[in-house]
Amino acid sequence: MSVKLNEERRDVFLNRSRMLLCPSILSSDLADLAGAVNGLGDAVDMVHCDVMDGHFVPNLTFGPPVIRALAAHTDKPLDVHLMVTNPDRLLDAYAGAGADILVVHWETLRHAQRTLSRIRELGCYAGLALNPATPVESAKWLLPDLDMILLMSVNPGFSGQAFIPQVMDKIKETRKLIDTSGYPIRLQVDGGVTSGNAAEVIRAGADMVVAGSAVFGQKFPKEAAEELGRTIRTARAKL
Ligand code: DX5
Ligand code: ZN
Repeated sequence: MSVKLNEERRDVFLNRSRMLLCPSILSSDLADLAGAVNGLGDAVDMVHCDVMDGHFVPNLTFGPPVIRALAAHTDKPLDVHLMVTNPDRLLDAYAGAGADILVVHWETLRHAQRTLSRIRELGCYAGLALNPATPVESAKWLLPDLDMILLMSVNPGFSGQAFIPQVMDKIKETRKLIDTSGYPIRLQVDGGVTSGNAAEVIRAGADMVVAGSAVFGQKFPKEAAEELGRTIRTARAKL
């Protein structure tokens, strides 16, 4: 199986002083994914693809053919968030379809370290997602195998839900865990991020934010993405 390894496309992920905005296509016009993504121009750093299986979460979305089709129409890195039961059996297919980051949920894993190693073997960055009530410590012994931790700030399944306030402290705790470890791990926050709370999310310690309705749910998605991008970079610059 051939796996795309496009270093230029991934530079954005490695430049850790840059705050990254990752619009979630779940909230976009699903009949025109490429148009929705390309309409954002350079206001988007990575494209967040919410894969749902109707089992782990009560919603069903994008299979590998959809990811492959989108990958052919954008040069932005694809951040593929697998909200699926038994992700192991799908890793090869999504990596082959063009995912740059593959994120698996801690709650779905039986042998987490094995799964994360496999993701890196496939040439992707390895991400671990934690549901709002899953302890930060779940990631502790997996840090050497991780490129990103995704903290859910809503219960996964749908866009347009409200940010769960106690996750703000969880972001701070996770930031401490990462900094103390010394591993170059990115911290992404996903769910209910808006122009009203994005700066606080960055101040708490995130360096990547996902935004669905705050971008695609707006009348002018590109302008909304530009504004959110400015907000998170300014918040970081003031730290
Ligand atoms: C929720 C998804 C999120 C969601 C974000 O299960 O993982 O990525 O699409 O949408 P908003 O930003 O509207 O909460
Ligand atoms: Zn997501």
